[in-house]
Amino acid sequence: MEITVKVGELAKEAADVIVLMLYEDKNALQGSAALIDKALDGAITTVIRDGEFTGKSKAQSVLHTLGRLQAKKVVLVGLGNPDKLTLEGLRHTAGSAAQCARALGASTLATTVEGTEQAHFTPSEAAQAVIEGMVLALYRFDKFKTAENERQQLATVRLVANNRHQARALQQGAEIGRILGECANVARSLVNHPANAMTPTLLAEQARQIAKECHLKCAILERKDLEKLGMGLLLGVAQGSEQPPKFIILEHRGGKSAQGNIVLVGKGITFDSGGISIKSAEGMERMKYDMSGGAAVIGALRAAALLKVPQTVIGLIPATENLPSGKATKPGDVHRAMNGKTAEVINTDAEGRLILGDALAYAARYKPIACVDLATLTGACVVALGHEAIGMMGNPQSEVLMERLRRAGVSTGERVWQLPLWDEYLEHVKSDVADVKNVGMGRAAGAIAGAAFLANFVDGYPWVHLDIAGTAWADREQGYKPKGGTGVGVRLLTQMLLDWHRKE
Ligand code: BES
Ligand code: MN
Ligand code: ZN
Repeated sequence: MEITVKVGELAKEAADVIVLMLYEDKNALQGSAALIDKALDGAITTVIRDGEFTGKSKAQSVLHTLGRLQAKKVVLVGLGNPDKLTLEGLRHTAGSAAQCARALGASTLATTVEGTEQAHFTPSEAAQAVIEGMVLALYRFDKFKTAENERQQLATVRLVANNRHQARALQQGAEIGRILGECANVARSLVNHPANAMTPTLLAEQARQIAKECHLKCAILERKDLEKLGMGLLLGVAQGSEQPPKFIILEHRGGKSAQGNIVLVGKGITFDSGGISIKSAEGMERMKYDMSGGAAVIGALRAAALLKVPQTVIGLIPATENLPSGKATKPGDVHRAMNGKTAEVINTDAEGRLILGDALAYAARYKPIACVDLATLTGACVVALGHEAIGMMGNPQSEVLMERLRRAGVSTGERVWQLPLWDEYLEHVKSDVADVKNVGMGRAAGAIAGAAFLANFVDGYPWVHLDIAGTAWADREQGYKPKGGTGVGVRLLTQMLLDWHRKE
């Protein structure tokens, strides 16, 4: 999709659809809306007066211009109350307008950010949210649908600015919004691929390809490298599968070395059957999503490169399948991690923490000033927070990092919610035969037990664990989130990186 910014008057745009985002208020129409209403002989005033269009969020009306404007149709969408409008609300509204335009068969759409100053957004912030919402909302995954590759696309979105100065701000915001939206869509596609088309080898190839396109450094560690490094936990999970494991390393060298490295770690289980502790059949097909953390890290690194984040960011993705076989790890087996600690595998379905343990031990090489891991780690996190929040846990050194993530969560709508990780929880994962075991105390504090296990592999650096089990997949379409992989984490992490040097 092409995004352009121009100086002009929205009413004069020759687009297939003009989108007008209007508040729910009783005041007279202003600016472009008033001009367009006048050209349409009061059609907007009429639908508002008749209660057909309320301006409430989710309200939508389509007007035909019947030759009175260059544009063929005007889509009205509601922004609700200006005092309550958030960037997330603006993303949703813009996204639903774009979906509506596409359903109307439009190939070009024109709109403005007029009125968003009432909600105290800068033009650049508003443009970012509008474009981000549209790019996210228009995403579809139809690679495996034989006949649907020719479906109608919205080809161009045009933002119309009042003047040159505003146009520059819109241009900047729109560019960030486009990149964030597209990078989240890249992550969504990695997740939506079925596991037979997204094996560890194929995931590594995708990472390499993306790295090449946006000038990231990329290295892929093979099984023999993992053996040399002593990554017994990752190898232990991988030993049940015919597919070789991969350890993907992406590097964005955007900062001076003195600034320190930020390391992002993503769980890359390309299919989680549970292994010998096999899952039940119902819904198992969804477990192709178990590499969503890895996909988010790839998406965030892509965004960091394209946005030229002035910081060095490292992405680490341990990737493997988790399958049962005659060679698979058995409950009770003990493996040794890269940092020398031994782990007893009580349940082979708690495999994410095993592969992340080795990745967090590897991360120590970079002496991170901050390390964030993302993983679809526990069903317990879904029980605790549902699909509305990412579970966040961190070591005591990570208070500032958690605060950064909280803020980025609010502004991106990818909100995090902290759960405690007190010393008492570390007791839950002590093993009788090894240093640690990979499950906690039965059903108690399941999400925290996962983090408590991981804490054993963190070597003193500030570290935060994000459990995205509930947020990485959408069972139903919701606003700018189509069904399927959500790409969660990409915008959260990138926003955190963009805000890293913000002074207050
Ligand atoms: N990938 C799953 C987490 C998961 C489970 C996400 C169900 C969504 C729905 C993870 O590998 C897993 O199986 N975790 C186990 C851990 C348990 C055995 C301690 C779980 O949550 O049941
Ligand atoms: Mn599992
Ligand atoms: Zn898993």
